[in-house]
Amino acid sequence: MAKANQSPVGKMFDQREFRNALGSFTTGVTIITACQADGTPVGITANSFNSVSLDPPLVLWSLAKSSNSLPAFQAAEHWAVHILSHDQDALATHFSKRSQDKFAGLELERGLGNAPLLAGCTTRMQCKTAYRYDGGDHIIMVGEVMHFEHSDTAPLVYQRGNYAIATRKDLADEAEALIKATAGSTSFDENSISHLLGTAYFQLHGMLREYGAQHGLNDAEFFVLNTLAAREGRKLEELNRLFVYAGHAPLINVLDDMTARGLLQVVVDHGENHEHGLFYLTPLGQELAQQIAAAGRQCEADMMQRLGTVDSLALRMLLRRFISTSDDTLLPGES
Ligand SMILES: Cc1cc2nc3c(=O)[nH]c(=O)nc-3n(C[C@H](O)[C@H](O)[C@H](O)COP(=O)(O)O)c2cc1C
Repeated sequence: MAKANQSPVGKMFDQREFRNALGSFTTGVTIITACQADGTPVGITANSFNSVSLDPPLVLWSLAKSSNSLPAFQAAEHWAVHILSHDQDALATHFSKRSQDKFAGLELERGLGNAPLLAGCTTRMQCKTAYRYDGGDHIIMVGEVMHFEHSDTAPLVYQRGNYAIATRKDLADEAEALIKATAGSTSFDENSISHLLGTAYFQLHGMLREYGAQHGLNDAEFFVLNTLAAREGRKLEELNRLFVYAGHAPLINVLDDMTARGLLQVVVDHGENHEHGLFYLTPLGQELAQQIAAAGRQCEADMMQRLGTVDSLALRMLLRRFISTSDDTLLPGES
C-alpha cells in the first residue's frame, strides 16, 4: 500500500485521503427522487446505493445530513432509484448541484408516492422506506423494492472522482499476460500499440479496398480517388507527395489511366507565373467516391455494432486521447 492512514483514537482521518481511498471503490451512479407533501419533487445524485437483500427485496443508500433534500427524504414513504445509463453523466452532474428546480424541463412520469420518474436510465426501482438508520454524518435509507424495470443499456460508472464507462476485461486478461510475457523482449511484439493500431487500420481499410477492387480500382487508383474526394483541385506534385508518403511507388500512368476512364479531369490553372494542371474528379468519379465513402461508413458501423455501444465509445475516446497526447490540435473539439 502506497499511503497508510491510521485514525488516532477519538480523531478523524485526513478526510481528503479518506475520500480518495473510498474513490477506488468503483460504483454505478444513481439519482434518487421523492416527492414532498406539497408536491414539490426532490432528487440527488448518489453513488452510495447498494443491494441488501433478495428476499425481501431490499436496497440501501445514504443521504448526507447536510443535504437540502434531507427533510423530504426523512418524510417520504416512497422514493425512486434511477441507475443511470452510460450517457447520462450530464444529468448526474445536474442532480449533484444544489438547486431549487432540478426537474425543470425534464420529461417525467410519476411513481409510487408521486415520486418523479426520470427517462433514459438503465434501471428504475420504486421503493417503500423500510428502515432509516443513523450513519454518522449520513442517514442510511433502506427501501423495499415494490416495482422495478431494467434494460440492457450499459450503466454509467463512477471511479476516483470521475465518470467512466466500463469495458469488459476478459480479452484484456490475455492482452495483459502477453504484455508481461513480451516485456523487455527485443523481438516483434504483437501487443504493441503500433502493431494493434496498424492491424486495426489495415483490417478496416482492407474491406474498403476490396470494395474499390469490385469497382475496377487498384490500390493506387483507390488512393487517388479518396484523396481527391477529401479535397479536389490538387496539383500533380502534391498528389505525388501524398502518394509516396502513403507508401506507394510514385504515380506514373495512374492519373492518365483514370482520366481516360472518365474518373478524373485536369483543369488548367493560369497562375501568375506559369500554368499548371489541377486534378478534379468528374461527376462519375465523384459518384464512385461517394459510394466508397458510404460503404466505408457502413463498414465502420458494422464493426462498431459488433463491438457494442460502450466499447465503440471507449475505442473512440481512447483513440482521441491517444492522438491528443502527441498533438492536441489534430482533432476537432480538442483545445
Ligand atoms: C457521483 C456522486 C455521488 C454522490 N453520492 C452521494 C450520496 O450517496 N449521498 C449523498 O448524500 N450525496 C451524494 N452526492 C452529493 C449530492 O448529489 C449533492 O450533495 C446533492 O445533490 C445536493 O443537493 P441537495 O442539497 O439539493 O439535496 C454525490 C455526488 C456525486 C457527484
